[in-house]
Parts: sequence; C-alpha cells; structure tokens
Amino acid sequence: MPILYSPENQVFHLQNDRISYIIRLVAGKYPIHQYWGKKVRAIHADVMERCCNQQEEGFTLHELPLDTLPQECPVFGCGDMRQGMLEVRQADGSSALDLCYDSHEILKGKPALKGLPSARGEEAETLVLRLRDEHSGVAVELSYSVYPDIDVIARNMRVVNDGEQPVVLERALSACVDLENTHAQLTTLSGAWARERQIVTRPLVPGHQGVESVRGASSHQACPFMALGKSTVTEDEGEVYALSLCYSGSFWADVFVDCNDMARAQIGIQPFQFSWELKPGDSFQTPEAYLCYSANGLNGMSREFHHLCGRYITRGKYAHASRPLLVNNWEATYFDFNEDKLLELAACAKDVGIDLFVLDDGWFGHRDVDNSSLGDWVDDRRKLPNGLRGLSDKIHGLGLKFGLWFEPEMISPDSDLYRAHPDWCIHIPGRMQVESRHQLVLDLSRKEVREYIIDAVSAAMERGNVDYVKWDMNRNMNMLHSDGLDSAHQKELNHRYILGLYEILEAVTSRFPDVLFESCAGGGGRFDFGMMYYMPQAWCSDDTDAFMRCRIQYGTSMVFPVSTMGAHVSAVPNHQMGRSTPLATRAAVAMGGTYGYELDLTRLPKEELDEIRRLNEKVKALQPLLLYGEFYRLCSPFEGNKTAFMSVSEDRCEAVVTHVYGPAEPNRQPVLLPLRGLDAEKEYRDVESGRVYGGDELMTHGLTIPRAWGDYMATQFHLVAVD
Ligand code: GLA
Repeated sequence: MPILYSPENQVFHLQNDRISYIIRLVAGKYPIHQYWGKKVRAIHADVMERCCNQQEEGFTLHELPLDTLPQECPVFGCGDMRQGMLEVRQADGSSALDLCYDSHEILKGKPALKGLPSARGEEAETLVLRLRDEHSGVAVELSYSVYPDIDVIARNMRVVNDGEQPVVLERALSACVDLENTHAQLTTLSGAWARERQIVTRPLVPGHQGVESVRGASSHQACPFMALGKSTVTEDEGEVYALSLCYSGSFWADVFVDCNDMARAQIGIQPFQFSWELKPGDSFQTPEAYLCYSANGLNGMSREFHHLCGRYITRGKYAHASRPLLVNNWEATYFDFNEDKLLELAACAKDVGIDLFVLDDGWFGHRDVDNSSLGDWVDDRRKLPNGLRGLSDKIHGLGLKFGLWFEPEMISPDSDLYRAHPDWCIHIPGRMQVESRHQLVLDLSRKEVREYIIDAVSAAMERGNVDYVKWDMNRNMNMLHSDGLDSAHQKELNHRYILGLYEILEAVTSRFPDVLFESCAGGGGRFDFGMMYYMPQAWCSDDTDAFMRCRIQYGTSMVFPVSTMGAHVSAVPNHQMGRSTPLATRAAVAMGGTYGYELDLTRLPKEELDEIRRLNEKVKALQPLLLYGEFYRLCSPFEGNKTAFMSVSEDRCEAVVTHVYGPAEPNRQPVLLPLRGLDAEKEYRDVESGRVYGGDELMTHGLTIPRAWGDYMATQFHLVAVD
C-alpha cells in the first residue's frame, strides 16, 4: 500500500520501498508536514512538542503556533508570518484564510490535470486532501501522487470557490515544503541565451533565495528547479531534496529560511503579475510540481528526474525510440538558400548516413532577414519554386525524412497576418510596441488566434508532408495586455497564454502522431517538463560550440535526460564563439544529446565526410544506450578544465564514457577517471583497445584518460561486459 492512513493518529504515510512522505493533521485541522526522506516505518515524535517550544510568544490560531509549524498548505494572515502558497483576495478586500481539513480520498492511479501537462501514473497512488475556509467558502484540494519505481512525489493544488462571492487568486503555487533538517546549500540552474542552465550552488542564508522568471517563458535565465542539501552533498553522496515544475511560463522557485532555520521551499506559477478571478463555483488548477528525494547525491536525484521524464512525461511514437540523425540548414545557409542549394546539402547528408533533412527559418512569406513574415506560413516561391511539397518530394526521393521549422507563436509587423489582424498580438492599445528580434507575440489567450495557428501550421505540415517539426519561440513577453480580456482580468494573460499554448500543442501533436516534434526557444529558452510532455526533445542551446556545450548539457542533465537534449555538430570556427574544436570532440559532445549536424556538409573535405560517415554508424549503433541508458555525471566543467559523463545500459553490460579536456595544459599526467553504475563483479572490455578491466577497478581506481595533445580533445570509451 503506497498510501497508508491511520485514523487514530490522523497520519497519511505516502511511501515506496525507498522513500516516505508523512503528513499529520494537528488538532484535526491543519495538515502538517512531518517527514520527507528515506523510508521509515513511522514517525512517533510529536511535531507539536517540537514546534511549540519557542521562547518567544507567537500568534496562535485555535491554540496553534502556525508561524513555527511546518505546513503543507501555508497561507499568510492567520498567524504564519511567512509567505504562503495561496493568496485569495475576498469580496471585502481581505486575504486571510483559515484552511482546515475537510475530507480526503485515496485514489488508485493519478488523474490527469485539465488543460495542463502532467505525468502519467497508472501505477501511482494519489492522496487528495480537501481543506476549506468556512468564512469565505474557499476550498483547496492538495493532490500527492507516489510512484512505486521512482522517488518522486507529484503534487498539485486545485482551488475552488465554494462561496457566494467572487474571489481573486493573487498567488496559487503548486507545492510548498517546510524542511527542518538544517539544509545548508541550494543548487539551481541559471544562465542566459547561449549559456543556459549553468550549475550554481550557494549557501542558504536567512531570508529569501531562489530562481524565477517573469518573461512569460520558463526562460534561458532560470530553470524551474532547485535542490537543497547539506554542504557535504556531492554528485554521489548525501541527501538531496529537489523541486521542479511542469510548466513553461513565468515561475517562482523560492526558499525562505526563517529565524528557526526552517527552510520553506515553494514552487509554482510566478505570483508577480498574476491574478485570477474565481466566480462562485469556479476552480483553478495549478501546474504539477515534482518533489524528488535522493539519498545518493545529485546524480541520484538526476536519475530520478530522468526516469520521471522518460517513463511518465514524454509521450508518443518517439518517446522511447531511436531518433533520426538530422542535418539542419540554419548554420549552413541562414536565410540564403534556394531549392538547389538545399537539395545539394540533402544529397550530401544522405551520402554520409544522415536520416532527416530539416529546413529551418526563411521558407515562408518573404523572409530574407529576420524582420518579416512570421505568421504568414505560405511557401516562398522565390526560394522554393515547387513549393514545400516539391522540395519535400525530392528530399523523400533521396531517402531522407523531411523536417520543417516554425515559429507559430509570433507575428512580424511586416506580415499579411499583422496587416489583417493588428490586434492579434499582445500589446497595450495606444502605447508604442516593444519589439524584440523585430517581432511581436501572438495573443494565445484568444480562441481565434489559437485556431489560426493550428490551421496554418497543420496546413503547412500537410503541404510539406513533414516528418519532423522544430517549434521555435524567439522572444519573451512585455507590454502585457490582451484585447480579449477586460481591465479586471489583464493579470490572467500570462497564464492564459500558456494554457492557450498547451491547447495548441495538444491539437497539433495529436493530429500528427507520427511526426517528431522538437521544441526550441532561441535555443534552450523553454526547456521544461511542460514542453517535454508534448515534444520529446528540445534544442538545448543556440550555442553549438562543443566546449560551451559541455557546460550547458552537463547543467541540463541535472533535471533532463539525454534523450531530450538536441545537440548538433557545427562548423569551426564556431558561429557563436569563434572557437575551433576537433570534429571528434564536437561529435562526442553531440552524442550527449539527440544527435545531428548544423553545418554546410558540401564544403567539407572528403576525409571529414568519411569521418562523419563513420561517426554516424557509431551513433546509430550506440543510440539506445546513449539516449536511454542510466546517465552519470563524472567530472564537472564548472569545477575545472575537464568534463566527463557516461551512460550505462539497464543490465549494466555496456557503457559509453566520454571525457573532454578544455584548453591543453602543459606537463600534465594522464587523468584517472573513476566510473559509476557498472557491475563490480563483471569484467569489461574496452572495444577499441581490447583491454579488459574489472567493474570494481573501474569504479574505484578508474579508467586512465590519455594526456591531451592540443586543445579540447575528447576521448570516448565503449565498454562491454565480458562473459
Ligand atoms: C532560433 C533558433 C535557431 C534558428 C533560428 C532561426 O534562434 O534557436 O536554431 O532556428 O531561430 O531564426
């Protein structure tokens, strides 16, 4: 039984073989967070005894010191002096709530969330706790799902207005945990365009700390994820408590350390610029949050998130399948292409064993630079005289799949769509528009806009008979205002946009179940579980420099599996950084993601094309292991001049180890790299050298990495267990 309820103690115990999450009702009223961590049989300690023993006289409600109790659904205003999970402005303008236990239910499985992406959970069990504020009639349903095979609790909150007056939500987060075990450090992923998801670890201090986005997208700058642990946590050791969110819009992930050293960790929709009216009878569903406990350090945490994503979030034909090796024409041609040039590239790609040709930006309207035509998804006959279908037929004729780029959420002021519907973009009437990359954002809160996008994209996909779509989104939102909402509801726009986006993605992806979708947002500006639910892979970053990619992909792997990370070999000198790295290094790093090319193959010398042909054979043979094996970070580019990671097959009979040096250093000895995840009892043969090592030896003493001769040298080992 994953969820046990003890009526005499009023305790809910969510568990699997490894973890426990325990909620106790105190005074029959308030759900208190009693324990989360390594599996225990029960907790006998009295939470009240512990939390009431304060010298200072505090506020009490029903004789409970809410300010010191760890709570499951804290609300400001009745005694708790910290920021809470929920803020509801009521008819009289006040926002205090006294949310008390009303009822509960334990369900087999895990209900899907209406209008929002969420993890599947046929094997899971779900606790629904209902709380209610008598005074206002505001009711809350807290849902917790526990899985037998992953150490993740999925949480969400639904708020219902059971009262007789309208109320306004000013904050509705997805999860809150009050952690008492002297957590000392916080790890988050922060960055910018072209350097997304850099690992940042800092000591926790009293007050607020965390990450957030107010950009209308989960963003390049922050990832909806944070991990807490003691200062002794390493990649492989120590307890980690992590929260992440299945949401693609503005978010808030915050830890508040109070005067008793309790760390309140919360995650959910960004409360800044958010409000939502609930009329009597209405409800509001928050996105889903994932609470991950790992007793095995950050690597352990990551593997739980990877399993969550692979087993329960990504869907469709490609969720567990090999991915086609692709070539994308963006860095090969930018906007300067015609059908002949594309076909020349495609023929060369076919010749070296590539499976999929992707036509990027510039095939529609009259888009010769990035200042026009977004919204006009009609073939540019100047570049494609035979239209998309003509090109696609020829690509298919070469034996390649055909993929196409769209940026469906955007509109260029210079477009027929804008001329016909100037009010369809997000804008404030009468104010100057703020463009970014010469474009505006379509108002997805409006039904007619959503319908237009679904129809226009579907028509082009059908016309082009496409096998793959790159769904891009290249700017964030400002000048927030929708012509479709009245003045009292403008702060709903951010979330309504994301709900609209999810509706569109659901419609388009289910209309084309055989198409592989890759999401993109100026590279990795919307890399989150929400997008993964619709599209199993995402372009990790516009930065294709192999050395920079080591950092970006290493950071991304904190939360997301290899199978989600679009990673391509590009030209040297690199177009974002001017750096040159060896082809073997670019390929080894791209093998840490869904593999492809982003360069003009037709300009490469024969020897490089031969090498690419060999690399492609290797990638195809190793893809199941590379994409879906157990992933281990071994050596961090954030801590020195080397990066190393490995993937191990489920049966631990096979592994691929990748090691990448930074700039060469003189007079260095070869490096010893201890591996992870192997079977200590097995012997492993390095396929290339034929040398045999013990699994125990590899995991303790390590594998010898040859000295680097030249900058940015990579070494890869393919290890296979010997019978
Ligand atoms: C974004 C994407 C790139 C490319 C360009 C095209 O920047 O991240 O990969 O598709 O748009 O304009």
